Amino acid sequence: MVVWSPFRFNCGREMANRFVIAPLTTDSSQEDGTVTESELEFIRRRAASGFGATISSAAYVKQDGRSWQGIGATQDGHTSSLRRLAEAMRASGGLAILQIYDGGRIAKPELIGEKCLRAPSAVASLRPGAKTPRAMTVDEVENLIASFREAASFARKVGFDGVEIHGANHYTVHQFFSPRANHRVDEWGGTLSKRMNFPLAVPRAVRDALGPKLIAGFRVTPFESERDGYTLEDAKFLCDELAKLDLDYISVSLDDYRSGKPTGETRVYSGPGAVSYIPAESPITEFARVIAGRSALIASGGIKTCIDAEGAIEMGADLVAVGRAVVVDPEWLSKIRTKSEATILAGLPKDQLKIAQELSIPPRMVEYLLSRPGWIPRL
Ligand SMILES: Cc1cc2nc3c(=O)[nH]c(=O)nc-3n(C[C@H](O)[C@H](O)[C@H](O)COP(=O)(O)O)c2cc1C
Repeated sequence: MVVWSPFRFNCGREMANRFVIAPLTTDSSQEDGTVTESELEFIRRRAASGFGATISSAAYVKQDGRSWQGIGATQDGHTSSLRRLAEAMRASGGLAILQIYDGGRIAKPELIGEKCLRAPSAVASLRPGAKTPRAMTVDEVENLIASFREAASFARKVGFDGVEIHGANHYTVHQFFSPRANHRVDEWGGTLSKRMNFPLAVPRAVRDALGPKLIAGFRVTPFESERDGYTLEDAKFLCDELAKLDLDYISVSLDDYRSGKPTGETRVYSGPGAVSYIPAESPITEFARVIAGRSALIASGGIKTCIDAEGAIEMGADLVAVGRAVVVDPEWLSKIRTKSEATILAGLPKDQLKIAQELSIPPRMVEYLLSRPGWIPRL
């Protein structure tokens, strides 16, 4: 089966199989952005089941861009934390990739101060209670690109196999591409081509910092379901431009790779406010056609079984990223490998203490997981 076959990225790094741990924020780091023991244990245990690669939780590249209490990649003080993280992620010899992000208008005011919120434009997110950010100056935009470059340098210095730019899920890179969030009229906004300038400048800077031998990846939301958002056609243009860069992979972020339902900005998962636009074909197939082998393609969303993973590969993906299934069952991949799928845990136990202790999930992450009803299945 293809899912168990090795894979070689453009830069030459190799994965033993096609399974990747999706980036999973734990909301459990120290206040200074260093990783905690419980986060290391969370990732070590899951990586040990034999994933070809693990992508880290998103690390902030600027203090005032933090959307939760996660890891940072902003200063020398973070390097030993990142080094320990990379080691834990390599628990069974898989590749370790650092995801980097900036929160922009959805940074958390409680962490950064309400007055510090800055974004492409002074337009509030649709999230309930969202505050209006101020528009970034051109200097700030350039400075932010430099911060992404610097974070990639840290990743290289501490021995990660690569970096993934978080260009999805409504964070700053996504905000620059979105006509809803970006109302700028300078070189960083306006036309579709100008809205692509930031999402393209960041990978160029990251590649520059990484050099040719490390993995550079980009995660993208394939379309916005919200009114006046960017369309699948817009995202295909971006994808084509990304594929012209020296990128090793493009990762498509979806709630379910088959139906093409991306994470809505308001994060409503069911009921009248739920995202409803469903493209005729999965964006995976559409993106595979556009990329045409220039970079690898990662599919994610709703992969719970080996058949799901094979299905994503048949649609055109090269690799599959698995999120909630490995949160719920740390030994998920071992069970898939030994054809013991019947023993896979289908949901988090009712007892909250058991969730943290038996599944090696940091207690703050448990709170985070349970804060959104319907997000993670419960037994
Ligand atoms: C607890 C949790 C934290 C997440 N954190 C991130 C993150 O830091 N970066 C990111 O790109 N996606 C993040 N995601 C999205 C997942 O990577 C994945 O795309 C999503 O959960 C859908 O895949 P799944 O159905 O396999 O869970 C997170 C998801 C969960 C459940």
